[in-house]
Amino acid sequence: MTAKTRRPLVAGNWKMNGLGPSGVALARDVAAGVGELAGQAGRGAAGAGPAADVVVCPPFTLLGEVGRAVAGTAVELGAQNIHWEDKGAFTGEISGSMLADLGCRYVIIGHSERRQYFGETDETVRKRLAAAGGHSLQPIVCVGETWEEREAGRTEERVGSQLRGALAAACPGVAFGAAPGSSNLHRDLCVAYEPVWAIGSGRAASGLDAQEVAAFIRRVLADTLGPEAAARARILYGGSVKPENMAEFSAQPDIDGALVGGASLDAAAFCGIVRQVAR
Ligand code: PGA
Repeated sequence: MTAKTRRPLVAGNWKMNGLGPSGVALARDVAAGVGELAGQAGRGAAGAGPAADVVVCPPFTLLGEVGRAVAGTAVELGAQNIHWEDKGAFTGEISGSMLADLGCRYVIIGHSERRQYFGETDETVRKRLAAAGGHSLQPIVCVGETWEEREAGRTEERVGSQLRGALAAACPGVAFGAAPGSSNLHRDLCVAYEPVWAIGSGRAASGLDAQEVAAFIRRVLADTLGPEAAARARILYGGSVKPENMAEFSAQPDIDGALVGGASLDAAAFCGIVRQVAR
């Protein structure tokens, strides 16, 4: 399977941004922009999507309203985190059933900000991944090295251990790599390679550096999940993505889209990124 047979994905991570009316307006503008792109590409009627999956991941507080705003459009809903238990005495946490109940189809897991500020470990990433699989939520698992690790030549060691930790065998309920043609496609794994030093810094990785790590990620996936699942997994690049640099990433054979932070808060910029990916 070549890169171009994987359907690209652009996911907008709003992080802790967005209040009621302006958040809903942003979601509406994104849906309108994505709808226009689909129209320009001659892909038919309103509601039909562009040649990419497009997801917005607002904060938990806006999931309901944003979900209603994008319902019936080509834009899907994602969350920024998921707790591994389904319900119970876990004050402040949000479960997979709650996300599914709100219409979420995707969930970001193990973002570096969660690892850095909120004690996220490979073990908790693994538990969240299992929970996502149990609720038909497509996980976007984030991995990436710090600048010090890159400088020390330890990028692969870091990314490899994060990935192997997340996918360790003791992960009941995770059934990635379903047979081609199976209806379990929503469970296909998505990995976002996000170098920590590139996030929010304005200093994106080069397309070639990102490709090198994406190819490594695919090799680790082949080792852990098998070649079929590895060939089907979508690998995104994240870190200071903007419309001007997206083409460089989507031209790479192992990069299937982007996880976008800052630029996802601007509908025109976000749709500009989708345009580059969905060409
Ligand atoms: P950025 O963030 O696009 O603002 O660099 C990416 C991310 O954190 O997912």
